[in-house]
This record gives sequence, structure tokens and C-alpha cells, in this order.
Amino acid sequence: MDLPFHVASHVDLALRAAANRLGLAERGFQPEVRVADPAHGDFQANGALAFAKREKQNPRAVAQQIVDALDADTQAAFDIALAGPGFINFRLKPAALLAWLGRYDSEEHLHTGASSAHAQQTWVVDYSSPNTAKQMHVGHLRSAVIGEAICRLLAFTGARVIRDNHLGDWGTQFGKLIYGYKRWADPAALATDAIEELERLYKLGNNATPEGSPALDEARAELVKLQNGDPENVALWQKFSEVSLAAFQQIYDRLGITFDHNLGESFYNDKVDRVYRELTETGLAENSNGALVVFHDEHPRFSRNAERPNPFMVRKADGASGYASTDLATALYRTEHFKADGIVVVTDFRQGDHFEQLFLTVKKWFAAKNYRLPELHHVTFGAVTGEDGKALKTRSGDVIKLKALLDEAEDRAFALVTEKSPEFPETERRDIARAVGIGAVQYADLSQNRSSNYVFSWDKMLALDGNTAPYLLYAVARVRSIFRKAGLDPAQPPTAGASAPETPQELALARKLVQFSDAVQLATNQLRPHFLGLYLYELAGAYSAFYAADKVIVDDPAVRARRLLLCHRTLIVLETGLHLLGLRTLERM
Ligand code: ARG
Repeated sequence: MDLPFHVASHVDLALRAAANRLGLAERGFQPEVRVADPAHGDFQANGALAFAKREKQNPRAVAQQIVDALDADTQAAFDIALAGPGFINFRLKPAALLAWLGRYDSEEHLHTGASSAHAQQTWVVDYSSPNTAKQMHVGHLRSAVIGEAICRLLAFTGARVIRDNHLGDWGTQFGKLIYGYKRWADPAALATDAIEELERLYKLGNNATPEGSPALDEARAELVKLQNGDPENVALWQKFSEVSLAAFQQIYDRLGITFDHNLGESFYNDKVDRVYRELTETGLAENSNGALVVFHDEHPRFSRNAERPNPFMVRKADGASGYASTDLATALYRTEHFKADGIVVVTDFRQGDHFEQLFLTVKKWFAAKNYRLPELHHVTFGAVTGEDGKALKTRSGDVIKLKALLDEAEDRAFALVTEKSPEFPETERRDIARAVGIGAVQYADLSQNRSSNYVFSWDKMLALDGNTAPYLLYAVARVRSIFRKAGLDPAQPPTAGASAPETPQELALARKLVQFSDAVQLATNQLRPHFLGLYLYELAGAYSAFYAADKVIVDDPAVRARRLLLCHRTLIVLETGLHLLGLRTLERM
């Protein structure tokens, strides 16, 4: 039988079909399949219990009836047993494990197998999205790293993914920056490190324009000129965006990120009028002291009766648009222009209220206008702190620039690689250091639940054991070395004639490999990449146990073939998983 990539789905469908044959489906039987405790099996179905209770029947008898009605292929692929008050346990038989491993034999075939979950859907992912004219600092790391992993997971499960960098490229700060630029710009500094110079000019502009000063009026006048399309100021602003993007791109290149679009806030300048009009005509927005606002009276904090009223500010009292206005226009654009089925925005948890209000407003607005509503997800993450629990700073107390952080990661990894493999040529050690250093930074972030604060520790993330990038990259290199030492090409492993897994370690490893599909599904559905990280760590552990117990290159051809097959599948699953998390894998380390 051809088991699908996601075996749990097969079990679910088989149970539904059996229930259907028995007439239980129309009475509301649901299989409730989940991954089982390994002591009991691979999957467990709990649905008979609730169903029998409702129908006042004996749950074990119902479960047995359903098991007896399962199709012959399913009966042949699994050892099936009843447990407890009516659970059904399924354990893949060795031959079925071998069949699954036979079918999913490359990164490409794993991808084809996984591609059903989001087939035909379009997902827009808004991540990184820094503000222009400023350098990216350590606070910008998480959105970029988590967002990219989510893009890859969605694409792997079949979605068409649109990566959209929603730059903060509009706002009152540009008045002060232009003011500073026109007075103090240093062409030489602009030529060497433009963004550093823009930061300096903004600071000068900001310091020179205190509240109530005539200089502040001048800075405001620069902003108004920009907003009214004054060619000189528009050209300056465009230059600011260009040099910012070029600097961001250097970071994105190192993190393996390529955006399809950089549609910043400014892109929506001419699209906010429609938002004002439609929210007014549908009666959702109201005038509040000259501003246009939306209350959500069903919500304790966003209701007009809240202790401290905090409405969604669609248009400010001075007529200007703001973060809410552009984000409303953005939601509409993504729905109409990209035909998004899902929208994911990745920012830190402090923007929680903004997105809650945005999504509430969008739902009511789209319903009133009969627009199709995409799935809306705000993916949040905690702060990055030092080991003392405080915000991560340089020794002199400044924020840490992302570029400097990535440089340091590579330097530290280089020292590590040089210590471990001094015989490798320097260019190769540099290349390994890039993959290990950047990978360590990415993986430290992705290996823990994104909702928690993230404690930044060089020692932990660069450790060669534990749930770290060096450990996993090293596991990949170790599997590769088996092939290398045996003079075999891992792209074409000699696995013909492999017999089914037999020893406890072979069986445990084979089962773990099949669970890749569950890990991918969980990580994707919950938009939480750490589920995949944890799985890869466990897989590496199962592989180590197998490698310690079972010699791979043995004389018996069927045994050697099956062990090489297990090595090879471990390799492709580890590599595929690490690539999904945005890491680059290595031949040797
Ligand atoms: N530029 C914002 C910031 O730096 C993040 C934008 C997130 N995306 C959005 N559509 N609001 O905080």
C-alpha cells in the first residue's frame, strides 16, 4: 500500500471510512487521531470514547466494531490494539515503515508529499519590516528569522508564499531627517556608510528641533513639502529608502532571505482615502474630536466604555494617516491584489493590541462590504535579553547592531572550527564558520517557543551538544562521513534489496523519521518553528542510538542496504528540516 506522507491523515481517513460503513459517521463520530506515546504505538484514536458516551454504548465495543470495519490495507499496515476504556492504538509494521521510507527518498519527494496541506493557497507573510534610515539592531533579528522559517514551512506544505517587507518608510521623523540632511550631510560619510550617516543626521535634526522652537517649525515644513510631493524632498526621501534597503539586503543575504516585495507604509499613501470612506459609510468609524476612530464595544479594552478608552485611530485629528490607516489599507491590498488566503504578520508581542484592533476592524469592514476574508495571524515573539535578563546591550550600553552581532557569530564559529578541524583549508573553515555562526544565531531563536523571551548566550548557542545548530549540523556531517568513508555517493545510496527495520534502534529511528510529517504539520499549523527544531534534535538522538548499536557496513547485503537506507533518510530529513528553518547545511565540519 502507498502510505501518504502524513500517516496520521491516513489513519484519520481510514477510521472515517470504517465509521461510515457502520453508519456511525452520520451520527457524529470523529476519529480524534493524535501522535501516541511511543510505549503504545505511533498514533492513537480517542474518538470512540466520546461517541459511545453520547450514544450510551460500551466504548470498547464501539472501538472494536470500528477496528473490524477498517479496510484490509490499513489492517495490513498497522498493528492495531484496543487500550483502556476504548482507545485505538496504531503501530506501523516494519514493512510499512520500509515502504514509507522507500517512497520519501529525497528533499523533493518529501516536499511533494507535504504539499497537500496548503495546496492552491496564497499566503502573504509580512516580516522583518524595519524602519528605514536606521540600522537593523538585535531587536530586528527575531522577526526576520522566525518569519523566514514560517515562509519556508508554508511553501513546503504547498502554499504560494509572498514575502512582503512592510518597511516603516513614512512618518514625521522624515521632516527632522531632511532638516538635518540639508544642513549637515557629509558626502564622504554618505559614500562609505550611508545608513550610519543618516542616523547621525537624524539625531542632529532631532536635537536641533526642540518642542516650541522655530527650527521645529522648519522641520515640519520640510515634512509638509515631502507630503505634498516637493521634488527635492521626495528625491531625498527616495534616496533614504534606497540606501536603507541596500544595507538591509546585506543582512538578508547572510540570513538567506529574499523578499518578493518591499511595500512599505508609503506605498499605501494613496490607498487610505478609500479606507476612510468605506469605514465611514459602513458606520464602523466615527468622529471623535476631529479624529476618525473605531471602537469595539464587545471588547473590554477597546470599547467606548473602557476605563481608559483606546479606540483604533483610523485618521488623526490633523487629517494625517498613521500606522492604523496604512495597515487597514495593507490588509485590503493583500486581499484584493494578492488574493491572499492567509496573512501572517510577524512582530514583537508589544504590538498585540494594534493587531487585535486591526483584525477586529478588518473582519467587520470586510463583512459589511462583502469582501472575502483571509485568515489573519499576528505571530508574536518575546524580547531578546542578555543572560542577566535585561535588554541586550553592548558594554558601553548601546543597542547591538545586527551586522556586528552576525560578524561576532562568524568569528566565534571560526575559532571553534579551527580548534576542531585545524587541518581544513582556511577558506573552507571560513565557509563552515559562516554556516555555523549564522546558523547558531538563527537556531537559538527558532529552537524555543517564540512566545518566550529569548536569552541570548553565545556559549549555549555554539555548544556542540544540546539542542543547538552546531550539534545538528555536526549530525548531518557525521551521516555524510559514513558514506564518504565507505566510498559511496550519498546522493545515490545503494539501498536496493533493503530488508525491513528489525533491531530496536532501527525501528525507533524509522518511526522517528516517519514522524517528520507530524512535526512539519504541527510547526506549520501553529506557526511555531520550534516544534520542528525539537523534532530534529530528537531525530539526531535516535540516529546516535542507532549508530552506537548497529554497525552499518556489514556483510549481509540486505542488512547493509537497510542500514544505509536509514542513514540516508536521516540525512535528507535532517537537511530538509534545517533548510526549512533557514539554515545552510555542510558536507563536513
Ligand atoms: N515597521 C514596524 C516596526 O518596526 C513593523 C511593521 C510590521 N508590519 C505591519 N504591517 N505593521 O515595528
